[in-house]
Amino acid sequence: MNSLAIDLNDQHFKRVCNLVYQLSGIHLKNGKEALVKTRLMKRLRKLNIGSFDDYINFIESEAGHTELGMMIDVMTTNKTSFFRELAHFDFLSKTILPEMKKNKIRLWSAACSSGQEPYSIAILLREQMPDVDSLDIRILATDISRRMLEEASAGQYVDDKMEGISRELLHKYFSKTKNGPDIEYKISEKVRKMISLASLNLLGNWPMKGPFDVIFCRNVMIYFDRPTQQKLVDRFWNILEPGGYLFVGHSEGLSAVKHKFKYVQAAIYRK
Ligand SMILES: C[S@@+](CC[C@H](N)C(=O)[O-])C[C@H]1O[C@@H](n2cnc3c(N)ncnc32)[C@H](O)[C@@H]1O
Repeated sequence: MNSLAIDLNDQHFKRVCNLVYQLSGIHLKNGKEALVKTRLMKRLRKLNIGSFDDYINFIESEAGHTELGMMIDVMTTNKTSFFRELAHFDFLSKTILPEMKKNKIRLWSAACSSGQEPYSIAILLREQMPDVDSLDIRILATDISRRMLEEASAGQYVDDKMEGISRELLHKYFSKTKNGPDIEYKISEKVRKMISLASLNLLGNWPMKGPFDVIFCRNVMIYFDRPTQQKLVDRFWNILEPGGYLFVGHSEGLSAVKHKFKYVQAAIYRK
């Protein structure tokens, strides 16, 4: 299939932007046409569909419901890494955990991508709390992307997805395994079992009641417009324990929205 011969016109772009916005809150700005086309072409090729008209008509139809999820999946940006934005993990380790004087601890990695974020949190807890297995600790990890949740669930990564993990932590918490010609690293069961993975659209219904002690919602609000960010930050406030912490991405901050959180340090807020 020659992708150059397949045209994504303004109308197609607008229809796709609307669908993506309605379903995920992701606001695709003008200028993203080439990116959208490249990402959608993967789906057209997979389904052997020869035009964007046919593809968009299909995802808008009843029969295309599953494909609509796949379309959202290819539209999401999933970049992540272990211990990304290290200052957050330092703060968790040096300030939050030493202050935490209770047995029941609830953390939420909201938009966990392929799992490196919740696994980093779990590894840090294991490193810091010798009695971790006797405490009631749960890390909820959610994302809208089924593909990412499958990767997170497998907990098995190729070498270049292991960035951020020291040699010592690699030996302690991963086993080396072969996948065809590739060497991959599989997260140990004691870390894996600390995470509950679930599919969740941040814009949709949240079945869990909380309250959470810590929420990581990093590098996803940047894709949302201001009203969507506002609603989300209000919901995070409501589901956090008084004194609980909200971490956002370093390039995000909460300056664009109204909120009652106390600013603690870059991209860390407290209820
Ligand atoms: C760039 S990754 C961030 C991963 C991780 N939090 C980090 O900072 O490394 C953004 C993730 O947000 C997810 N996402 C986008 N829109 C979402 C929505 N409406 N609900 C839940 N997750 C969403 C994407 O699927 C993607 O995995």
